[in-house]
Amino acid sequence: MEIINTVARLSSVVEAARQEGKSIGLVPTMGALHAGHRSLVERARRENDIVVVSVFVNPTQFNNPDDLRTYPRTEEADAAMLRECGVDFAFMPAVEEIYPEPDTRVFDLGPVAEVMEGAMRPGHFNGVAQIVSKLFAIAKPDKAYFGEKDFQQIAVIRRMVEIEGFKGLEIVDCPIVREPDGLALSSRNVRLTPEGRAVAPHIRRVLLKSLDMKAAGLTPAQVRDAVVAEINAVDGLEAEYYEIVDALTMQPVATWDEARNGAVGCVTVYDGDVRLIDNIRY
Ligand code: PAJ
Repeated sequence: MEIINTVARLSSVVEAARQEGKSIGLVPTMGALHAGHRSLVERARRENDIVVVSVFVNPTQFNNPDDLRTYPRTEEADAAMLRECGVDFAFMPAVEEIYPEPDTRVFDLGPVAEVMEGAMRPGHFNGVAQIVSKLFAIAKPDKAYFGEKDFQQIAVIRRMVEIEGFKGLEIVDCPIVREPDGLALSSRNVRLTPEGRAVAPHIRRVLLKSLDMKAAGLTPAQVRDAVVAEINAVDGLEAEYYEIVDALTMQPVATWDEARNGAVGCVTVYDGDVRLIDNIRY
């Protein structure tokens, strides 16, 4: 595995691979890698000749300076994991390498980016679109891998690909990897206090219970209110939102039938001061 720090070097190695007719898989990450990231990397390894993994804590997608400051950084361990997975190129650039000048692009992401995370974290998805579009332009992947843990992010990236016209690029969505007790793996989990970690699995439990609520005949709005109430009833947890949306359009639905592409419930919870997200398909 080669660790690459410059855009020029990454461009040149992917160009050489293309010349040889090799397929390229890209896994964008912000590092602090865990088994969730690993599942994406392993899948990319199985499906492509060349695997590129980017590790870059992208400042433009952080709307909260404290979150950016406290975001875990474990570069050496990340490189070791990627080497072990048989990755060809780990792209680990400095901020100035990616943004020699401020990125002023504003993407017309439309309704998928206006709700939920888009409403709670102004500018977040525009920053995601900035970095992911740059990575796609540099690495020119055939396939790019994203986790369903960030369900709305996938919808936003599909929209960005559409408006930027990255032709022939396949966005591959990958299932959520969880701890045995149900907590979705996240780089932010290391910031949980022992008490916070102990209550965190309630999030998944309440979401699973909500499947029964639907089966019992509750409407999406009733399920939403019950989920928020049950999460808030747990000491130390506070739901920021729970929305039941169409799995492609991300728009909240009033009835289950309205979710033509399937319904998914997306939740954000403060566990102490750590913001956790999760989701479930109905
Ligand atoms: P990051 O949070 O590091 O996540 C990188 C990728 O790993 C994302 O596609 C995310 O959905 C996936 N992932 C994280 N936890 C997962 C889990 N428990 N199971 C399955 N997949 C999981 O998402 C980002 O970085 C950034 O926004 C990025 C796309 C890299 C742009 O900066």
